[in-house]
Amino acid sequence: MLYLHFGDEREEGYWLKCFKQQAPGLQVVTAKDKLAPEAVKWVGVWNPKPNFFKAFPNLQGVFALSAGVDALVARDDLPSSLPIMRLLDAGMAQQMIDYLLWVALTLQGDFDLYLQRQKQKNWQPELSKNPTKPRVGILGLGTLGIKVAQKFSQLGYSVSGWKRTAAFVEGVEVLVGDEGFVNLLKKTDLLVNLLPNTAATNKILNKANLEKLPQGASLVNIGRGQQLVDKDLISLLDTQHLRLAVLDVFSTEPLPENHPFWAHSQVIITPHIAAYTLPELAVEQVVNNLKRLAKGEKPTGLVDSTLGY
Ligand code: GLV
Repeated sequence: MLYLHFGDEREEGYWLKCFKQQAPGLQVVTAKDKLAPEAVKWVGVWNPKPNFFKAFPNLQGVFALSAGVDALVARDDLPSSLPIMRLLDAGMAQQMIDYLLWVALTLQGDFDLYLQRQKQKNWQPELSKNPTKPRVGILGLGTLGIKVAQKFSQLGYSVSGWKRTAAFVEGVEVLVGDEGFVNLLKKTDLLVNLLPNTAATNKILNKANLEKLPQGASLVNIGRGQQLVDKDLISLLDTQHLRLAVLDVFSTEPLPENHPFWAHSQVIITPHIAAYTLPELAVEQVVNNLKRLAKGEKPTGLVDSTLGY
């Protein structure tokens, strides 16, 4: 039996429909069903409350209905021996590509500057159009990062990517290690954070690192808010070392009303919407993984608890 928790009844209703369509024989329940928690073997979750997992004594595994699993890995109500499976892409890569194209085109067309000038009722065209595309640097070449990197490369952008281990990605310069990280920063005009949030990447977007970007570079954070040191970003924007920050994730969500990001003219905020999980595709992965697990095979998206993703 799979217990589904999304924290929103309407949303859960839609997921239940997808499960019914794709796996009519699978018993899927939600909080509404009030069934014995001992019968629950698997849970599919997004953002469960503290101690949520304590209710299920016979749990065999957790399906994260997300790409990021940092919040699950950090919990103290889940034994570390319990397998966690995360979603791979599930429709998110294309949405991230669209989001990042919007940012790249904003910079290329100077639309960020015109939005700022509009607020000042300032009719001031730039002298010319930007002759070149921004050089894109992607931190994190996982399932999503690779797809983003390849698409931008195909569209004629110069793309570098940083990952923990060496890899070949067609059309993309892959950099590894501390030296690779600095090299990437030094030649990036548009830095995209897609790293998993782990002890190794927490606060990685700090002053010492961000100031290695060339003057006038911009940042997009679609990873996790905990990876960014907010005040360091603000000071680099204020000194104009950085031009624009487009932020979709924050260390506290919703972003508190009194946070300086809200009113900063060089910050664009979106409310953690860069990519939605598409239930149809996510359910397909969960159902396939349940089949794999039943056959004793390795599921996809299995989280390595030592790496934290
Ligand atoms: C969203 O942030 C996710 O991790 O899927």
